[in-house]
Amino acid sequence: MSDQAIINEVGLRDGLQNQPITVDTDTKARLAELLVEAGMRYLEPVSFVSPKAIPQMADAAALTPLLPQGKGLHYTALVPNLKGYQLARDAGYPTVALVLSTTDSFNERNLRMSLEQAAQSCEAIIAAAKEDGVATRTYISGAFACPYDGTVPVSLPQQLTERMFAAGSDEVAIADTIGAGNPQQMKDIMAPLIREFGADRFYVHLHDTRGLAAAMAWAAADLGVRRFDASIGGLGGCPFAPGATGNMATEDLVYLLESAGLDTGIDVEKLRAAVALAQQATQRPLGGRILSWMESQEKQGKTPCLW
Ligand code: COA
Ligand code: ZN
Repeated sequence: MSDQAIINEVGLRDGLQNQPITVDTDTKARLAELLVEAGMRYLEPVSFVSPKAIPQMADAAALTPLLPQGKGLHYTALVPNLKGYQLARDAGYPTVALVLSTTDSFNERNLRMSLEQAAQSCEAIIAAAKEDGVATRTYISGAFACPYDGTVPVSLPQQLTERMFAAGSDEVAIADTIGAGNPQQMKDIMAPLIREFGADRFYVHLHDTRGLAAAMAWAAADLGVRRFDASIGGLGGCPFAPGATGNMATEDLVYLLESAGLDTGIDVEKLRAAVALAQQATQRPLGGRILSWMESQEKQGKTPCLW
């Protein structure tokens, strides 16, 4: 098993898309810079979605040229439909993230499509991307539970994954969009898929709503998964659903993986500047557990020793 792990920062997209405050384009660009300075190499900074549906992402095309450039940086744009795909391709994104939820209800609310329509839409986008030389990662959203219909049987994300790989998706992300899964479910869903397709083609995308994201990340890592989404400071969560939280905090995921001997290439200490800016920009208290611990050490006059 490889000891290198990839963390894909989705705070600028998943984290900011439902904040009551729309963060301005220059601040988003600065946040991306701070993340890259901390060693982040994979980022999903934007989605090309209807500005009426998600006004926080309306500046996707304007933000793109302001992002740090350089060798070894990998940017992804989320696209909800063919129109979004075309906008992402025209903006120069080499990889797009597609969304396929596990139920009719979730697809209807998110994409205004049934499950079958959404699956066919993903197949059409994958086919177009193949012709254009754009890589695809399909998110199986609500893989563990649907916000409207509850727990999802293990076979459903497995079947949708198989269908998306058959359509030519380069990668699949197993997404606990509402943070309602558990580590055993992670194993039950992913172990057979990894045997069939190999761990290298999978991402996991976790929200920490009920505090199990770290356990689920580790369950996936134990199966050989080395690609993870995370949000700086744990950014995200619906402001209208008290208690619902964002993605697993990037700094906590770095700490988890690095302390277990995997190399992320990311410096937790340097992530603190990004957390501070995200906090200031969204006017929300942010920060993973590891930052609270570091601060408590500093308050006692100690230098936090992470490793
Ligand atoms: N990017 C920008 N504009 C888009 C678009 C896209 N990807 N897809 C559609 N639009 C525009 C259309 O051009 C149309 O504009 P107009 O009113 O000025 O003519 C308008 O949106 C409605 O188009 P329609 O095809 O009827 O879409 P819809 O109203 O059924 O909305 C979505 C469907 C998917 C476009 C919209 O609900 C959306 O963007 N949702 C965001 C989902 C999301 O980001 N979820 C979180 C991440 S998973
Ligand atoms: Zn998410």
